[in-house]
Amino acid sequence: MRSICVINHKGGVGKTTTAVNLASGLSRNDKNVLLIDLDPQSNISISLKVDAPYNLYDSLLGNIPLKRCIFNLGKNLDVLTSKETLVKAEYHLANKVGAQMLLRDQLREIEGYDYIIVDCPPSLGLLNQNILAFCKEAFVPTSTDYLGFDALKKMKLIVEKINSNYNHDIKITKVIPTLFDKRTKICKNTLAEMENTFNGVVSNPIRVNSKLKEAPMYGKSIFSYAKSSNGAKDYGKLVENVLAMGSIRVTEETIAG
Ligand SMILES: Nc1ncnc2c1ncn2[C@@H]1O[C@H](COP(=O)(O)OP(=O)(O)OP(=O)(O)O)[C@@H](O)[C@H]1O
Ligand SMILES: [Mg+2]
Repeated sequence: MRSICVINHKGGVGKTTTAVNLASGLSRNDKNVLLIDLDPQSNISISLKVDAPYNLYDSLLGNIPLKRCIFNLGKNLDVLTSKETLVKAEYHLANKVGAQMLLRDQLREIEGYDYIIVDCPPSLGLLNQNILAFCKEAFVPTSTDYLGFDALKKMKLIVEKINSNYNHDIKITKVIPTLFDKRTKICKNTLAEMENTFNGVVSNPIRVNSKLKEAPMYGKSIFSYAKSSNGAKDYGKLVENVLAMGSIRVTEETIAG
C-alpha cells in the first residue's frame, strides 16, 4: 500500500485539484484508492459532491470507528471526508495528553487499499504533522512562480524535521509543477530551477486549464468532465508516471537539493 500526502503549506497551489484527479485516475486504472480530506474547508466533499454520514471528526473524537467513517464513492474509490468541525478535533488532540499522534495511530489500522491519497490543508498544524508522520511519500504541488519555489524549499526542511522528530522516513517523491503557462518567463525559469534543485522527482507540469476549475462545479474529476482537455492530458500523464513508479523509493541523494 502506498501512502501519499499531497501537501504544501502554501495555499492555492493545486493540492485539492491534484488529490482529486490523482485518486480518480488511479481508481480508473483498477487501483483500490482511499482519498482522505484533511482540510476543514471540505474541498473534497465539495469537489466530488459527497455527503458522507460520518467524517474524520467523528473518528478522532472516538464517536465512530474510523472504518465506519469511510464512504464508498464508486468503483475502487472510497473517501474519508472532513468538515469545519475538524478544527475542533485538532484543538482536542493538541490539549489531550497522549493524543497528539492519534490521527497517525488511527490511520495505521487501515488496510486493503493500493493507495491512500491525502489532501492536506495549507498549514503546519498538528494534523499535517500527523499525516507527514504516517505517510511514506509526500507529493508537493508547487506553483511555477517565485513564491511557489520558495515554499517548496521550506517543505523540504519541514519533511526533514518530521523525520527527525518522529523517527520516520517520509520522502518527497514528487514535486508537481502547477499553474504552468509556458508563455511566461517566470513559469519557464521556475520550472528549470525546480528541475535543477529537485532533480529526478519533478513531474510533468500541470498547465493552467479552465476545465480544471470547472470540474468541481459538476462534482466530477477532469477525466469524466473533459477527457480531451489539457487538464486531463496532464493529470493522465501524472497518473501514468505514479503507476510506473510502483513502490520504487527515491533516494536521499535524489532530493538532496
Ligand atoms: N492547472 C490549473 N489550471 C487552472 N486552475 C487551476 C489549476 N489547478 C488548480 N486550479 C484552480 O486554482 C484554485 C486553487 O486550487 P486548489 O483548490 O486545488 O488549491 P489548494 O492548494 O488545494 O488550495 P488550498 O491551499 O486552499 O487548499 C481552484 O480554483 C482550482 O480550480
Ligand atoms: Mg485544498
